[in-house]
Amino acid sequence: ESYDMGGHDTYMHKEISEQADAVDRVLRGRIDDRFSTVHLGGLNLDAREARGIRRVKILGCGTSYHAGMIGAQLIEELARIPADAEPASEFRYRNPVVDPDTLYVAVSQSGETYDVLAAVQELKRKGARVLGVVNVVGSAIAREADGGMYVHAGPEVCVVSTKCFTNTVVAFALLALHLGRIRDLSVSDGKRLIAGLRKLPAQIAAILETEDEIKKIAEEYAGAQSMMFIGRVRGYPVALEASLKLKEISYIHAEAYPASELKHGPLALIEPALPTVAIVPDDELLEKNRAALEEIKARSGRILAVAHREQEKADHTIVVPKNETELDPILMGIPLQLLAYHTALAMGRDIDKPRNLAKSVTVE
Ligand code: AGP
Repeated sequence: ESYDMGGHDTYMHKEISEQADAVDRVLRGRIDDRFSTVHLGGLNLDAREARGIRRVKILGCGTSYHAGMIGAQLIEELARIPADAEPASEFRYRNPVVDPDTLYVAVSQSGETYDVLAAVQELKRKGARVLGVVNVVGSAIAREADGGMYVHAGPEVCVVSTKCFTNTVVAFALLALHLGRIRDLSVSDGKRLIAGLRKLPAQIAAILETEDEIKKIAEEYAGAQSMMFIGRVRGYPVALEASLKLKEISYIHAEAYPASELKHGPLALIEPALPTVAIVPDDELLEKNRAALEEIKARSGRILAVAHREQEKADHTIVVPKNETELDPILMGIPLQLLAYHTALAMGRDIDKPRNLAKSVTVE
């Protein structure tokens, strides 16, 4: 991949379109079918050390933080290690307890974000083990970390991150699978997830083919003053990331909430002028998510669902291919990158260089 626009009008569009190949790259050479696991030599973490990890704390900013939230869920689900993500910018200012049995993971596309780098330096000064999940090879965070993995998304030029988000989440799926197979994840689950990972590039290509349909939907929503994004558990970080993408490039105000929190306040905002984008995967929470759609419809709210099948209560459904439940968030974010893109395009925004933002924030 190069810095050439390759026939696209914007880098954002080029980078969204490159995701099937990018995901293929992050997987390449890492899958071990013999033991139904993945090799991540760069972690510098042997099996005995991996078994000794009591917690995982993931640190990043913006989109990388959202990818880290999905990463924490994957690690907790597959490796059964308590894990969470926190904005690096908050972590470094609250004098956190640094625990020797916690594995710290710093996430960054650029590898140069100051808040993340400063958190890594502070952790290392206190003797913690820090891994980097980074895109830019040889960047400051990659150099400072004790080990880690490159996400191999290729150069990302547009200020807003798209393909690197997807690849970072896939990288976390690999890390979770690796840690899981050293701990209690079974061979059959390992096989199942590897088969799911291998399906991703073709499924991403299939989603990208639905761009015209997403464009039409985006043009309908382009006039909105504000939008609500909801999801539960695996869908919540997807909702957060989709709302960030929309506000960054379209300047439409957007909020993301866990669907379970609607009745605790944000339901008061629902009315015909506030569209809701709902992440509705076919998982154990499907009926609960559908109940949230009913609540919104009962208040005449417009709904766009991203789901594995048509949702009756939604005004529009973008149907995405089903993968293994744990990997579903990887695919559900992609149509929402296109939604943000076409909404901003319809509004005549400067997509690659949104106002007030820089590609990497190397100052405090
Ligand atoms: C992404 O669309 C953003 N512009 C921004 O939130 C970004 O993800 C954040 O600044 C972190 O950057 P990094 O991944 O290079 O560390």
